[in-house]
Amino acid sequence: MKHTDIKEVFSNPDILENTVTVCGWVRTARNSKNVAFIELNDGTTLEHLQIVIDKESGIAYEDAMHLGCSLKVTGTAVPSRQGSVEINAESITVLGACPLEYPLQKKRHTLEFLRTMPHLRGRTNTFNAVLRVRSVMAEAIHQYFQDRNYVYVNTPLITGSDCEGAGEMFQVTTIGYSNDYKSEEEYYSDDFFGRRAGLSVSGQLEGEVAAMAMGKIYTFGPSFRAENSNTPKHLAEFWHVEPEIAFAELPDVIEEAESMIKAVIRTVLDKCPSEMKFFDAHFENGIINRLEELISHEFAVCDYTEAIKLLKESGRDFQYPVEWGCDLQTEHERYISEEVFKKAVFVTNYPKEIKSFYMKQNEDGKTVAAVDLLVPGVGEIIGGSEREADYDKITAAMKERNMNLDLYKDYLELRKYGSVPHGGFGLGFERLIMYVTGVSNIRDVILYPRTVGSIR
Ligand code: 4AD
Repeated sequence: MKHTDIKEVFSNPDILENTVTVCGWVRTARNSKNVAFIELNDGTTLEHLQIVIDKESGIAYEDAMHLGCSLKVTGTAVPSRQGSVEINAESITVLGACPLEYPLQKKRHTLEFLRTMPHLRGRTNTFNAVLRVRSVMAEAIHQYFQDRNYVYVNTPLITGSDCEGAGEMFQVTTIGYSNDYKSEEEYYSDDFFGRRAGLSVSGQLEGEVAAMAMGKIYTFGPSFRAENSNTPKHLAEFWHVEPEIAFAELPDVIEEAESMIKAVIRTVLDKCPSEMKFFDAHFENGIINRLEELISHEFAVCDYTEAIKLLKESGRDFQYPVEWGCDLQTEHERYISEEVFKKAVFVTNYPKEIKSFYMKQNEDGKTVAAVDLLVPGVGEIIGGSEREADYDKITAAMKERNMNLDLYKDYLELRKYGSVPHGGFGLGFERLIMYVTGVSNIRDVILYPRTVGSIR
């Protein structure tokens, strides 16, 4: 269907006084004595295009005045009184009618209400802005890595190994469990892959394989976690950006993470000014300044042991008690980033017991070269580490965790054949979107959220 994007109507000055055809959904419609007005949106921009209908013109417009109906409009682009562009309609075709029970009648609905209709909420200003910012951020991430000689690799989504070792894998199977099997082993051997398989929680282990050949790689795809966490920042299916860098130590990983976050935010501020103004007005007052501030200062770096000291000295009554060795909870992460440093903070060198087997063991024998990036308002958005490159040390860590080394044979061979210092991180894409937009529930920054007890 030949037509012009509404974004193009607003941005191309040569369009004025020309005949154009636009398509879209009716966002508002009102009548005055001689003229009818329709605001049309086609999803290419947050701004609605005003269609002006002269009631004397003979255009049949009544059926086009229903909220939610889809139209094709041909008319002349003229300057509007507000200094923008509007269309003086010459013909209107209703492509799809929309009855009055259309649920998006009000100007503003709550996000909770909109969550009940994932198929329609994309037609609200909020989701229009979120989805476009998300798209621009995805491109910025690819651009960032491509510009720096990283190779984009696609790691498998079905895997036999639980990378994080936290037992949060969804099982992939073609047969239901039956009492006819004498053991789990027998059951799995009968299954599609001949052994237990699941959806990947992280592409890191295969990412390491690729980095040991290509030097610098990144993945950008979905990860799956069967975590029973019904929180505003956990999804069962989230998008995961995972660079893996050969010939790199922990400070190199930290430097790359900071530089990537800053580049992505810079791009959003430059490419999505009206979306960001919208978030500033409706979600988090001052967000544009906060992001400008963030990217113009160095992120803080704080050792885990120091973070524990700061939390203990805070005098706060945290819900989860603080002791050296404990994992940091969201309340701790937010205290550190929002109240102590008041900016983004990398927390480094966590106790080995609370981190994964693959992290480089520090000389103190107690901690590993891990890093989490904490940001105000959200908490952790990145988790990463330098990897343990020594065969004996990594196998010892796996044995301590009672892991089945046979399942990791290929991965371990990387430590046998030309092992190098290397590291990387995982960025939760939706968590970064939450931070950039000020939208406080992760369910509202993805088209279809998957969370415990909810799928549609
Ligand atoms: O800290 P995590 O578990 O680290 C890994 O998976 C490493 N293998 C990454 C690596 O080094 N390549 O997860 C990384 C990030 C978290 O910081 C968080 O932002 C996000 O992934 N994340 C989630 N986001 C949404 N919902 C969930 N359930 C998430 N779990 C992790």
